[in-house]
Amino acid sequence: MEIIEIFGGRPLNGNVTVQGSKNAVLPMIAASILTDEKVVLKNCPHIDDVYTMLNLIEELGCRVNFENHVIEIDAGSIVCSEIKQEIAKKVRSSITFLGSLLGRCKKAKLPFPGGCTIGARPINLHIEMLEKMGVVFTERDDVLIASSKEIKGTNLKFYKKSVGAAQNCIMAAVLANGITRIKGIAVEPEVMELCSFLRKMGAVILRTDYDEIMIKGVDKLHGVTYDVPSDRIVAGTYMLAAAATRGEVFLKKAPASHLHSVIYTLKQVNAKIECLNNGIFIDGKNASKGIPYIATDNYPGFPTDLQSQLVSLLTVADSKSIIEEKIFEARFKVADQLNKMNANIYKGSSKLVVNPVKKLCGTRVVAEELRGGAALVIAGLMAEGRTTIDGCKYIRRGYEDIVNDFKAMGADIRTIGEHNGSNKHEKAKMENETGEKEKKNKDCYESVCCI
Ligand code: EPZ
Repeated sequence: MEIIEIFGGRPLNGNVTVQGSKNAVLPMIAASILTDEKVVLKNCPHIDDVYTMLNLIEELGCRVNFENHVIEIDAGSIVCSEIKQEIAKKVRSSITFLGSLLGRCKKAKLPFPGGCTIGARPINLHIEMLEKMGVVFTERDDVLIASSKEIKGTNLKFYKKSVGAAQNCIMAAVLANGITRIKGIAVEPEVMELCSFLRKMGAVILRTDYDEIMIKGVDKLHGVTYDVPSDRIVAGTYMLAAAATRGEVFLKKAPASHLHSVIYTLKQVNAKIECLNNGIFIDGKNASKGIPYIATDNYPGFPTDLQSQLVSLLTVADSKSIIEEKIFEARFKVADQLNKMNANIYKGSSKLVVNPVKKLCGTRVVAEELRGGAALVIAGLMAEGRTTIDGCKYIRRGYEDIVNDFKAMGADIRTIGEHNGSNKHEKAKMENETGEKEKKNKDCYESVCCI
């Protein structure tokens, strides 16, 4: 089984290019079935959640190709509107096929996405809002069945922000009959990026206020070629790692305009940040201050997806910090693993109290979910001595190559053990890489032999 090994205690120094956004591309993959023409997505990260979503869309009858960060989808012939349980359970964003299948086929059948280690992850908002658009839901053996004679434009008002529910309503509305006005919509960049993607496909979507949009249903959407933006959570993870190791790092393509709350927080701990037109420079040499209180929040507040990574940074601050998690009810599990590394974190129901310690000590820790896993990598980079991290499969869901990225920034980090890519798209990537390696070796051999 594959593990990550780190010999920590040295500052990160160097630069790396930030990958394409997981949470932007996943709904775009689902949305690509809203047209029967070809969709091309560029700058896509080679991560497990993308592989899983591509498997799901192939199950629907689409033709898919994924090479060198470019996904091509041909949804000309959708053969069914059912999402398979065993694949869907692997990825939360399978729920966004609800909106796109309703938009394309006026029906959908998919398993309840279920909870995960960070919370119950209910879908009541998805159902309530789509019912208002004329969708009828039934449930059988943990499978959600949705259908509609006609999806009607209507007025919707979210009483609680939900990224996924917003994306589902948008995808159901773009081909609906009439005008849909949505108030109180989640304004995360990934929701607005989905609107831009759909607009490029011919959808009529206007942002009428900060958290209000208006969608006029059209008869058809056309194919598109679209550049996926950089991943703000991966960028934020690396920014926090630079500060946590007191290093200096330049993150190419980091989306500064979507990271204001993270930049503000890093300045609070006394890091220096410079936003350039092609990325962000972080000087974390003196980033040792604690944060008396910070809470995660809906965008543009501090992202819940960076909460665990911030906790790692604060474990060795020069004063106590309190972090409140306001989005998910069970996102503190990583504290137990950090405490195994000599951290001193007290877990309340919705708050963490981080009492500062002089240093973290390397040991064996276990990742239980994606962002907690990234937080453990940061802790390993900070800690004195050797840290090993089990549970790489969680980290691989969202980080294309966290080990080589940190190696490029000077970290003493590697993976040990075999990872046999189970997914055919991953296998294709691995074969491609092997082929490239063999070709490089062959070229090099020939060049030497030709001397
Ligand atoms: C998206 O999840 C992201 N995932 C999450 O990132 C992110 O943490 C989350 O938005 C919040 O920003 C993807 O984009 C694939 P929500 P989503 O619906 O859409 C409650 C990562 O690490 N809620 O905005 O599932 C829910 O329980 C992942 O990349 C309801 O109560 O999140 C949560 O408390 C983790 N009823 C809150 O709303 C509903 O019907 C926000 O959930 C739906 C949600």
